[in-house]
Amino acid sequence: MSELFTPEELQEVEHLKSLYPEPQAALLPVLWMVQRKYGWISLDAIRAVAELLRLPYAHVLGVVRFYTMFHTEPMGRYHIQVCTNISCMLRGGEQILTFLSQKLGIGHKQRTPDGVFSLEEVECMGACGGAPMIAINEDYYENITVEQVNELLERLRLSAQNSSHTEGNGTNGHPTP
Ligand code: FES
Repeated sequence: MSELFTPEELQEVEHLKSLYPEPQAALLPVLWMVQRKYGWISLDAIRAVAELLRLPYAHVLGVVRFYTMFHTEPMGRYHIQVCTNISCMLRGGEQILTFLSQKLGIGHKQRTPDGVFSLEEVECMGACGGAPMIAINEDYYENITVEQVNELLERLRLSAQNSSHTEGNGTNGHPTP
């Protein structure tokens, strides 16, 4: 991996470290920075974070593998999480998951060949009052219907096409780790 972070991002890491009595406590937000930048957390990134925070590699690896919010392989530009826990399940969450899986031709934790979408079935995301809900990257969509999901997919696909023309590449929108 080339440099994990830019000088500006390293300043942000230093700021995060300063917020805790033990700098190593900044591990979760630093891992989150990596995922936001690259879309996933590679083994090289784990090694680099371990060095940066002076933590054992095995410890950082264990933390990344423990939290399901961290991806250990590349996900799509738009990572769609569908809640199928009790409230969402009772209000159509499973139908939404089935629709997405069929429409995109992918299953749990898979991504489309063009790298635009990935899909994940998740447990309660704390938005039960808006069930059924999905999340796309960091945005929540509550009280959502299959029809609305279909419209969203079309919009996002268009947006991905437009930006890949602008960027002149067909990547999933993240720098290569
Ligand atoms: S059950 Fe779906 S957000 Fe809580």
